[in-house]
Amino acid sequence: MAMSEQSILKTELRWALIVGGIVAVILGTILYTAVSMGINPPSNHEFADPKTLHLSAEFTESNLGTRIDPNGQITARVIATQFEFVPGCIILPANRDVTMRFTTPDVIHGILVTGTNVNTMIVPGYVAQVHTRFTKTGDLLMPCHEFCGLGHSQMIATVRVVPPEQFHPDAEGRAACGKPS
Ligand code: CUA
Repeated sequence: MAMSEQSILKTELRWALIVGGIVAVILGTILYTAVSMGINPPSNHEFADPKTLHLSAEFTESNLGTRIDPNGQITARVIATQFEFVPGCIILPANRDVTMRFTTPDVIHGILVTGTNVNTMIVPGYVAQVHTRFTKTGDLLMPCHEFCGLGHSQMIATVRVVPPEQFHPDAEGRAACGKPS
């Protein structure tokens, strides 16, 4: 049975309306969450010169790892490189707001911290920043999840989440996994 021109047109219009409705719902949800709940797409555009990593500026060798600033802000800085993270272990206290900052001198990497929603790409030339609060203590694995070359599967770090009372930064506010506390 052949459909008439009219009924085909009707079907097409109905589907166009349905699709339009879906798009409207999605846009509405994005607008609603952005305005009422402050949920926005990543908008942190920060640059880091790949040539100076380890050597100068924020990601200089001595500034890598975890640091607590005088104002109480806790930040971990990590360089992702083919095929390791520097440092390979990051210590952070549980139940505190922490910031993790990543960059890379070579190719695109990515990280996730197992059992948490921490997940970001690491793009050369940019700083990838994550704010989080770890609720469970223990050694969490942080693998690279963006294929970055032959050693990709070996590229893995540890996030050591300790109870706040076991988090002991030194006089300069630095804390490392290896240091006895
Ligand atoms: Cu770095 Cu995969």
